[in-house]
Amino acid sequence: MTKIAVIYYSMYGHILRSSKEIAKGIANAGGKADLFQIKETLPQSLVSQIGGIEKPSIEEIPEITPGHLTEYDGFMFGIPTRYGNLPSQWKSFWDQTGGLWANGGLHGKPFGLFVSTGTPGGGQETTAISSLSSFVHHGMIYVPLGYKNTFPLLTNLNEVHGGSPWGAGTFAGADGSRQPTELELELHRIQGEEFFKTVEKLSK
Ligand SMILES: Cc1cc2nc3c(=O)[nH]c(=O)nc-3n(C[C@H](O)[C@H](O)[C@H](O)COP(=O)(O)O)c2cc1C
Repeated sequence: MTKIAVIYYSMYGHILRSSKEIAKGIANAGGKADLFQIKETLPQSLVSQIGGIEKPSIEEIPEITPGHLTEYDGFMFGIPTRYGNLPSQWKSFWDQTGGLWANGGLHGKPFGLFVSTGTPGGGQETTAISSLSSFVHHGMIYVPLGYKNTFPLLTNLNEVHGGSPWGAGTFAGADGSRQPTELELELHRIQGEEFFKTVEKLSK
């Protein structure tokens, strides 16, 4: 049984919503995904001050540890941008994986990613690109979204939407009030589905 972990960090809930849609796509393709959240590293007082949502309990969605990673065949990473880059919470997690880096524990494992930014031009692609260095050092295999199954959605100019060939995406809006649209949710489902099929092919 091919095992996929969908791992995310979400301050305001957009990437959490997207993660669930990715998991739905994986299920549509006949797979099963386990959801994990990245541990918060900011003080709770600051999270409250900047309006962060209450995180799902760790009974509902466990916190990822480096040890979990070795149990999975592939990973989908949910990343809300910070200045066009990875949030420090994500970086802090990768900084704990030196042991896996040293023993090649993640070498050859496929991953895909999906992002959220406040607005267009806020870093959908740069967030994807700047996250790659950690994965490259681990020797992991990037499975991008591409255009094959998403062309009409990604090229749709009639409505504002996130996402790129690097991975599905959504816009939270400058004040965080925008929610993922149906087009964006469909992109996430397609990505989940296609990622699962690719991981299955690679594991044969
Ligand atoms: C410190 C900080 C930096 C941010 N930097 C950017 C940015 O460079 N570009 C952008 O479009 N949005 C930026 N945002 C907005 C977040 O990307 C947005 O809140 C996030 O994608 C929403 O996802 P979430 O609800 O899953 O947390 C920033 C937010 C914070 C708190």
